[in-house]
Amino acid sequence: MKDLTPRKQDLDPIEIASRDEIEALQLQRLKWSLKHAYENVPHYRKAFDAKGVHPYDLKQLSDLRHFPFTAKQDLRDNYPFGMFAVPREKVLRIHASSGTTGKPTVVGYTRNDLDVWADCMARSLRASGTRPGDVVHVAYGYGLFTGGLGAHYGAERLGCTVVPASGGMTTRQVTLIEDFAATTIMVTPSYMLSILDEYRAQGLDPRRSPLEVGIFGAEPWTNAMRAEIEEAFDMHAVDIYGLSEVIGPGVANECVETKDGLHIWEDHFYPEIVDPETGEPVADGEKGELVFTSLTKEAFPIVRYRTRDLTRLLPGTARSMRRMEKITGRSDDMMILRGVNVFPTQIEEQILRIDGLAPHFQIELTREGRMDEMIVHVEAAAADLAEEHRANASNALRERIKAVVGLTVKVNCLPPEGVARSQGKAVRIVDRRPKG
Ligand code: DLL
Repeated sequence: MKDLTPRKQDLDPIEIASRDEIEALQLQRLKWSLKHAYENVPHYRKAFDAKGVHPYDLKQLSDLRHFPFTAKQDLRDNYPFGMFAVPREKVLRIHASSGTTGKPTVVGYTRNDLDVWADCMARSLRASGTRPGDVVHVAYGYGLFTGGLGAHYGAERLGCTVVPASGGMTTRQVTLIEDFAATTIMVTPSYMLSILDEYRAQGLDPRRSPLEVGIFGAEPWTNAMRAEIEEAFDMHAVDIYGLSEVIGPGVANECVETKDGLHIWEDHFYPEIVDPETGEPVADGEKGELVFTSLTKEAFPIVRYRTRDLTRLLPGTARSMRRMEKITGRSDDMMILRGVNVFPTQIEEQILRIDGLAPHFQIELTREGRMDEMIVHVEAAAADLAEEHRANASNALRERIKAVVGLTVKVNCLPPEGVARSQGKAVRIVDRRPKG
């Protein structure tokens, strides 16, 4: 793989500023953001008043702990535009998250917000090793989802040639990557695996593809998956994080030279980690739920948003801004089976260790009598894998999950293409247990 470390002089100065400088900027911006939310969004005024806090009470960054949290439900309660802090005419773009139940959550952007977003995305691309002039293939979905358009405007801002492929039509994805000689691809890691299968189906060697960098996010993925993709394509695989409520993709990104967790663009998004049960902030280095406060957003300021994503904050390395550890899962995705807590990423890690299995998988939860059961549906790597080898691979997986995760599961090893594919975020858990 090529050394794609960006040159120091190409970084935004704040990326490598001193912690004192970063914190001074954060404090100044946080004061503005709280005041902006309080004065312009009835929900925040009510919530601050109910907790007996006023924006002027924030004297130092740690005072943020006294302010109320914002949850997804608050956005639903204010559907569609109740959380906007500017007149609707000042909102140039709307995005919305699908929301598995009920109404979507709606977010809005002023011209300045779109500019900040494009800047954060351009910074993320640069950190990933992408350079001006590169061809960037965007296979995140375009539409209300923030992935496609977020990636698109960031790549343009950096000065790249953007191919707005969106998701789907996998055969054509490969044709476009090859014919337009894309050096960067932006896509969910699970859909990248489908593109990999398609390379092989077309008899192409993925290691000879023009791709040098993949910027993967929108769903949890493991370092084992990184190794798999990097080896298959002979390319760098870096992690990008974001969520619609905070801005979209480009809240945090790994640096290609270190790949040691995601640097949070702290000049725009202030992170905290809290104990998910008590809501109390924990020290840097301790694991908990990630909470974000926006520092510069005009249309949709967000105060202490509970992301439900579990991680920890670590000091900066390639940049002075703090890192968040690769996300192991969302609290919503944590399955509790017979007293054992388990995330899909733990299953993914074990699958990737077993020869003869492909990295596509789905977890089905069922209930037999009063016992919850987990069935791991996974694929054999090759259609001609002998029955005996398939049985061995299934056994090996069952035993590894038992030994490492501490859980007895059933493994259903299907032929290639047996596990449902998704063109965006993978559906990892299908819960068939009776409700209630
Ligand atoms: O998924 C934004 C995005 C698009 C990020 C493209 C990266 C690339 P939402 O649809 O609002 O926004 O979903 C946000 O996805 O709270 C996490 O649970 C999950 N997520 C996003 N990035 C990562 C990641 C976009 N790198 C939710 N690792 C978040 C793990 C991620 N989970």
